[in-house]
Amino acid sequence: MIYTDLGGTGVQIPRIGQGTWTYGEQKNEAKEEVKALRYGIEHGMTLIDTAEEYANGGAERIVGEAIHDCRKEIFLTTKVSAKNCSYEGVISAAERSLERLGTTYIDLYLQHWPSQQHELEETMRAMIYLVENGMVNYIGVSNFTPELLEEAHRALGNHVIVCNQVGYHLYDRRIENNVLPFCKKQGVTLMAYSPFGYAPQFFGGQGFPEQGSADRAVLEDIGSKYGKTAYQVALNWILRHEGIVTIPKAKNIIHIESNLEALGWDLPAEDLAEIDRNFPKPLDGMPLQTY
Ligand SMILES: NC(=O)c1ccc[n+]([C@@H]2O[C@H](COP(=O)([O-])OP(=O)(O)OC[C@H]3O[C@@H](n4cnc5c(N)ncnc54)[C@H](OP(=O)(O)O)[C@@H]3O)[C@@H](O)[C@H]2O)c1
Repeated sequence: MIYTDLGGTGVQIPRIGQGTWTYGEQKNEAKEEVKALRYGIEHGMTLIDTAEEYANGGAERIVGEAIHDCRKEIFLTTKVSAKNCSYEGVISAAERSLERLGTTYIDLYLQHWPSQQHELEETMRAMIYLVENGMVNYIGVSNFTPELLEEAHRALGNHVIVCNQVGYHLYDRRIENNVLPFCKKQGVTLMAYSPFGYAPQFFGGQGFPEQGSADRAVLEDIGSKYGKTAYQVALNWILRHEGIVTIPKAKNIIHIESNLEALGWDLPAEDLAEIDRNFPKPLDGMPLQTY
């Protein structure tokens, strides 16, 4: 595994972690999900991302089971839902997450989405409470624009946002306009979610280029030069940005093994240019993420 610094904290986190969206939804898949997480952990993917929202707490329970005997090795990230972002709401959501996760602390606690109902200042005050009371080590956000990140920083005073988790993949390069440069400048770790594209039920999503499509052929042709698959090219492309980490979800052990091989090599400029030609960069002035 290759590591990077978390938001200037000195804490080293893996550049590829494990997502858990949809875990806990099907009872009969629980064993397979725990097994996948543990396989990833054994191979260095000790950064685990989950959320109270996933399967209504079910994903956190799966994670709790997977990490019960190796908690200290894990960098555990979970999220408070936007609807729970009042002062009391954040604190009780964190308490419930801790219970489901079977742990006494969360390494990184994220506000999942900007909230329409609750002031950011109030949410961040609760985050400070959690840090000062040892329930959370670091504070982060997800789906935040630079403006909101600045507002959060102002609200935090001496505390800081160390991470912004945002969608980033070949078909959605919007963060390259403003979010990514802002995070780099501020030393905020960018954690890229949905590295293989959004699921159809999410943002009307476009998933990974289909087998046989022209886009897939571009990735396969590039990968074939290095003995890599299209998926490995896609992950490596995300990780070309220094300091970015990503959290693919892979229930299938073969997929986990493949994702581990996406690190430790670099796509040369000519291949990056070929990717740009086929998966265009966002236009200047294109709206920021409008989450
Ligand atoms: N903050 C937010 O708002 C937000 C939003 C969305 C997601 N997330 C987080 O980000 C994580 C990842 O995003 P995601 O779950 O949307 O999608 P993703 O990781 O981009 O894609 C997951 C899909 O890719 C497949 N896959 C994984 N590795 C593969 C490989 N090497 N070859 C072929 N297929 C492969 C998985 O199959 P198998 O499962 O069958 O292996 C699964 O169907 C989530 O699980 C969640 O933790 C956060």
